Amino acid sequence: MADPHLVVVDDAASLARAGADVVADVIRADGPVTIVPATGETPVGMYAELAAVRARGDLEAGAVSIVQLDEYLGLEPGDRRALFGWMDRTVLQPLAIDDSRVMRLPTDGDVDAACAAFDRDLGARGAIDLAILGLGTNGHLGFNEPPSDAASVTRAVDLTPDTIAANARYWGGEDDVPTRAVTLGLHTLLGARSILLLVSGASKHAIVRRALEGPVGEDVPASFLRTAQGAVTVLVDRAAWEGA
Ligand code: F6R
Repeated sequence: MADPHLVVVDDAASLARAGADVVADVIRADGPVTIVPATGETPVGMYAELAAVRARGDLEAGAVSIVQLDEYLGLEPGDRRALFGWMDRTVLQPLAIDDSRVMRLPTDGDVDAACAAFDRDLGARGAIDLAILGLGTNGHLGFNEPPSDAASVTRAVDLTPDTIAANARYWGGEDDVPTRAVTLGLHTLLGARSILLLVSGASKHAIVRRALEGPVGEDVPASFLRTAQGAVTVLVDRAAWEGA
C-alpha cells in the first residue's frame, strides 16, 4: 500500500491525454489485460484520445477483457439509459473490443445471488489490471454510495439523492434517473493491480480534497483509495484541485 500518486494537469484536455497514456501503457503490457472502465462524463475525452491513438495504428485493444463497473436496475432491454450502452459507445466500439469480452453485471432475477456468483467468477479469473474510476460529488466510486465500507461486495444499491441529482444531466431530469443500480464492490476495486481516478471540474473540488486529505472512512468511499493494494494514480485538473 502506498499513497496515491497525485498528478495535477492544466485542464480537461490534458487530463484526457495523460489518462490515455496510463491506460495505453497497461493495454500494451504483455499478456491478457483486464480493465474496469467507468462511464460518466469525466473519462469520455480520454476514451476518445485512446480511440485516436488506435486509429493511428499505435494501439491494439482487441484482446482486452472488460469488467463492467456499474449498471442501473429496472430498465427494459434497449433502454437508452443503460450504462452498458454508454460503455459500448465510448469504449468498446471505439477500441474495437468485442461484446463477448465483457463480464456484464447481473440485472435480472435474484440479483443478490447473481452478484455473489459474479464475485466468485471474478475472483477465479484473478486480479483486475486497471480500474478506471470517476468521482461522485458525494464521494462514490462506481455506485458505492456513502456509506460503503472497504469490504463491500458486488451488490444492488439504492442511489442517493446526490447521485440522482448529479446524473439528471445525462438523462433529462431527476425523474428520468433510475433509483437503483448494481455496482462492483470496493473490495474488488481496491484489489485491482492499478487504479486510475480521473477528476475534472470545480464541482469536484471539495470532494477530491476530502477524499485525499480528510479522514478515511465509509462516509467518503473514495477515501479508501488511500488503502488500496495496488498503485493508485489520481489525475486531477486544476479546476478540480484548486476549485476555480
Ligand atoms: C460511472 C460511475 C460513476 C461516475 C461518477 C462521476 O460508471 O461509476 O461513479 O464515475 O459519478 O461521474 P462524472 O464523470 O459524470 O462526473
